[in-house]
Amino acid sequence: MHNEPSSSPAFEAVRHPWQGIRAGAFEGAADTYAIHDEMRRRAPVWRAPWGDVYLTGYDLVSSSLANRKLSHVPPGGGTAEPSSAIRDWLIYQEGSAHTALRQALQQPFVGKGMAALRPVVDEAVEDLVGDAGQSGTIDVVAAFTRAVPEWVICRLLGVPDEDMPMIRAWSGSIRTILDAGFDEAFGGHGNPADEMSDYFVEHLRRLLAAGQVPPLLTGLASLVEALGLTAAGRNIAFLAFAGHETTVHLIGNMLFHLAHQPSQWSALRRDRRLAANAVAETLRLESPVQKICRWPLEPVMLDGQEIEKDDLLVLLVGAANRDPAQFADASRFDLGRAGKQNLAFGRGAHVCIGRALAEMEGTAVLEAALARWNTIEPVAARWMDNSSIRGLDALTLRLTA
Ligand code: HEM
Repeated sequence: MHNEPSSSPAFEAVRHPWQGIRAGAFEGAADTYAIHDEMRRRAPVWRAPWGDVYLTGYDLVSSSLANRKLSHVPPGGGTAEPSSAIRDWLIYQEGSAHTALRQALQQPFVGKGMAALRPVVDEAVEDLVGDAGQSGTIDVVAAFTRAVPEWVICRLLGVPDEDMPMIRAWSGSIRTILDAGFDEAFGGHGNPADEMSDYFVEHLRRLLAAGQVPPLLTGLASLVEALGLTAAGRNIAFLAFAGHETTVHLIGNMLFHLAHQPSQWSALRRDRRLAANAVAETLRLESPVQKICRWPLEPVMLDGQEIEKDDLLVLLVGAANRDPAQFADASRFDLGRAGKQNLAFGRGAHVCIGRALAEMEGTAVLEAALARWNTIEPVAARWMDNSSIRGLDALTLRLTA
């Protein structure tokens, strides 16, 4: 029985009126993980009163991520507005168009390409974590967790320092409206995704004129040849957004958990080789991307329920990564955890192309923090009100050298 009623306050919170949110957000104030747990237990395939279908279990989310009958492209191509920039973004492509574009964009992330990115990451970490000082009480989000990935992606895409504040402002707005649904947010002109895309089309024009190829754009020539200048520039805007708005939260969420677990921090100080485990465990426990949408190309059966063509399926990655059937004591941060791969970077044809870079940044910041601070203690934290991206607006820590 899948749509069993419940009187629990957590589950009731899932049923709040839809408020026109097409992507199916919950209210930010609700305890999202308690809702996830109850959904997973009582209705692993849950059709909301507003029609969208939510998946919470690891196996279902994992198989759905790889299911080619479930499209990335919303019915109608993305937004009501055919000229919207996001219609060209890699993430909203399917089939051969997706494959060709992905090949051009992922070139720098594979094989030897990654070695060229390392010095940029190291420089950002040294400068920005270094500026945080030896001891004191600071908001690490304001000090460096946001700045490191921002600085890295801008350097890797050749964006000049003076333009970084604009990238920050656009990314913040896109993060907010991605949580709200496509048509309302991206329908008209003047939305931040279009503005950021226009910026990168011009940026690309300048790079081509100057014959410059920044480290993340080694596939530039084939990209422009395949797509033309406008669609290529729009995809660089997507890379700029996807390439840091997620990593920022990996780093902040990791320091949040380590500050609350002094024994795990001490274990890391004793054995720095565990840094990669801390990154992986953060991605599982506090996944920066909490939900991913899919639309069936034809009717599909999921756990005995028929889902119709074009129904909105919301894959709750954050819930799947806390599924107790896969992860023992799933809500605990555990550096020694082994076993199933978490789904934080997705799975299948659209699996994240920037995973190695994100992990490199997360590990580099953590290693720098471990070398600098003997203890980190939580003072205050403010989580963002966003059901798609999980992260902190502020995290004040007491740092002791
Ligand atoms: C902790 C950091 C990151 C997380 C949690 C993350 C998560 C994800 C997830 C879940 C997807 C798949 C979405 C779907 O299937 O609909 C994805 C796709 C993608 N990510 Fe990441 N990502 C991160 C960092 C990065 C970085 C650093 C870059 C690039 C510099 C990047 C670029 C992309 C791109 C281009 C795609 C689209 C791939 C496609 O559609 O084929 N991501 N990411």
